[in-house]
Amino acid sequence: MNILILGAGGREHAFALKLSQSNKLSKLYVAPGNAGTAQCAINVHIDPVDFQAVKNTVLENDINMVIVGPEAPLVAGVHDFFLQDEALKNIPVIGPQKDGAELEGSKEFSKKFMKKHGVPTAAYEAFTKETLDQGKAFLETLKPPFVLKADGLAAGKGVLILNTLEEAKAELEDMLSNEKFGAASSKVVIEEFLDGIELSVFVLTDGKSYKILPSAKDYKRIGEGDTGLNTGGMGAISPVPFANEDFLKKVEDRVVIPTVEGLQKDGIDYRGFIFIGLMNIDGNPFVIEYNVRMGDPETEAVLPRIESDLLELFEGVATQTLAEKSFKLTSKTATTVMTVAGGYPEAYEKGKVISGLNDVQGTTVYHAGTKLTEDGSVVTNGGRVMTFTSLGDTMEEALEKCYSNIAKVAFEGMNYRKDIGFDLKDL
Ligand code: AMP
Ligand code: GLY
Repeated sequence: MNILILGAGGREHAFALKLSQSNKLSKLYVAPGNAGTAQCAINVHIDPVDFQAVKNTVLENDINMVIVGPEAPLVAGVHDFFLQDEALKNIPVIGPQKDGAELEGSKEFSKKFMKKHGVPTAAYEAFTKETLDQGKAFLETLKPPFVLKADGLAAGKGVLILNTLEEAKAELEDMLSNEKFGAASSKVVIEEFLDGIELSVFVLTDGKSYKILPSAKDYKRIGEGDTGLNTGGMGAISPVPFANEDFLKKVEDRVVIPTVEGLQKDGIDYRGFIFIGLMNIDGNPFVIEYNVRMGDPETEAVLPRIESDLLELFEGVATQTLAEKSFKLTSKTATTVMTVAGGYPEAYEKGKVISGLNDVQGTTVYHAGTKLTEDGSVVTNGGRVMTFTSLGDTMEEALEKCYSNIAKVAFEGMNYRKDIGFDLKDL
């Protein structure tokens, strides 16, 4: 089969590397890809939300299946575009149609969905500019901290957690009246604060059945000890030690089954990944959010633990035969540590030459923001640059492999967190 992956990050490099191990694969394309995907696939320089360019790529290269990495093409309707096009309609797309993508595209939609299908989540109300005063009154009924969420996609920045009522009211007004996050905050969800430990569970579904992929915990803050600004993710660990069998059974019964069945009941034909952001409160799972794609860098810790052929699983999704596919995981722990450009997540420079990649051993380097130059060197091309993933019998062993290999690689301004997994050590 010829496969096209849409996206350009570490997640897409991880998909590419995993799919390149399948003996069902003929040719692999990534659009637009990076210097890492160039090593195991053919990069195509198009924008994944330019559907006409995606169509041309698919037809020119006899593509048999498209895997969508990021949420933007899904929310914009790439899957619907395929289904509506005579030449593309029989080419499966892994990733939901627009209706399913609303689980990530609209916070209010996802909260309504959870409420309707009995999925445990924080109590909430949604407000617009017209109902600003009711929003402020609702805030007065809650205890701090206050959680405000822009309804639409806001590049991961649309959630504010505020300690005082005054700040919360001021921010609500800023979001609704001044469109602080653009059109994404023309509606705001205010919800109860959930106090617990966060983790993510990933599900692959063909709309009828599902496979629960390994759980993972990511580290979102730039600074050690979970301090400083939020980032796209600085590292991840899989599995999560406190997500034991008992907890995961609750996740399956209370969250995964009602979610997959809820999609069916609502007539949403969902074929793809569901990323479930959870809070573990005293051993009970509550959903913080759904994403309609895999996480990044969680994918780089989750996929290496899947021993089954990923392409087989995707075929199962496409033909709704996922239930028949074998699904095996390794019990080893995977850790991934992200290296980032100096200054990230604020202003940073690109184009720094990366050295030492050939010396890496026993660790997989997944490229995120990198580019191959004409003279063949690999340079930085984004804030998150590369992530180092290792497997080990213990988390400590895996982390040791990551860090000893990071030490062999350099680029000007390179930064990374030296404490990934710090909070899981004694669990
Ligand atoms: P989201 O974009 O919905 O993932 O939210 C970003 C982050 O805000 C989450 O990863 C949580 O750490 C935090 N968060 C979101 N909603 C809540 C909540 N109701 N209670 C506590 N923390 C939350
Ligand atoms: N690492 C978080 C995300 O992919 O949304």
